[in-house]
Amino acid sequence: MEIRAVRPAEEPVAEGVVAAAFGEPADGRVVRMTRALRAGGAARASLVAVADGELIGHVGLSRGWVDARRELVEVLVLSPLSVRPDRQGHGVGTALVAAALATAEGSGAPAVFLEGSPDYYGRRGFGSGSALGFDRPSARIPDPGFQVALLSSYRPWMVGRLIYPEAFWTTDTVGLRDPDLELVEARIASGS
Ligand SMILES: CC(C)(COP(=O)(O)OP(=O)(O)OC[C@H]1O[C@@H](n2cnc3c(N)ncnc32)[C@H](O)[C@@H]1OP(=O)(O)O)[C@@H](O)C(=O)NCCC(=O)NCCS
Repeated sequence: MEIRAVRPAEEPVAEGVVAAAFGEPADGRVVRMTRALRAGGAARASLVAVADGELIGHVGLSRGWVDARRELVEVLVLSPLSVRPDRQGHGVGTALVAAALATAEGSGAPAVFLEGSPDYYGRRGFGSGSALGFDRPSARIPDPGFQVALLSSYRPWMVGRLIYPEAFWTTDTVGLRDPDLELVEARIASGS
């Protein structure tokens, strides 16, 4: 399997992988989010996993900020992460996360943020953003899902609120909304 930057001609196939992974139609919300990130100039990297000549996974990185007391700090947000349903459970997602972190490190970014399962990302370089002093961009992101990976250029003063690029708001892809939010909060409260 090879992981590399997406080629322009592959964009439609990559969008198809994103839509399939999230169980959405071809122009579903997550695909519209990736388009909006590109159109708004916030997209920083779009990596694909290719095996046997087929594109089977995708991960995106885009620019956000941490509103630190000293100055605004450019950081990266990892989203979306997608593996074609028939290729899930074979390490493709793990390899894409590792490649995204290596790309972020190479770009000089001090941190990569995401929303996701601490069970999944906790074993792949991420930890609780809140525990490290960061504030969530929205209270609708369940706290355990607010994750960060600190990179070598990170300095302890670079804490504050994470500011998302506009595309996450215009496509309403930030956090969860009721009734899903209520369900997840109840699950967290019960410790299950
Ligand atoms: C989540 C996803 C990217 C994982 O990719 P993958 O190639 O199947 O993952 P890997 O094979 O590298 O890892 C498998 C592990 O992920 C776990 N896993 C799969 N989906 C998961 C999920 N939704 N939540 C938590 N863990 C999940 C498996 O149990 C397995 O656990 P392990 O840590 O014990 O190995 C893929 O299932 C996917 O595209 N899902 C739909 C889109 C999505 O939810 N994206 C992430 C949004 S934050």
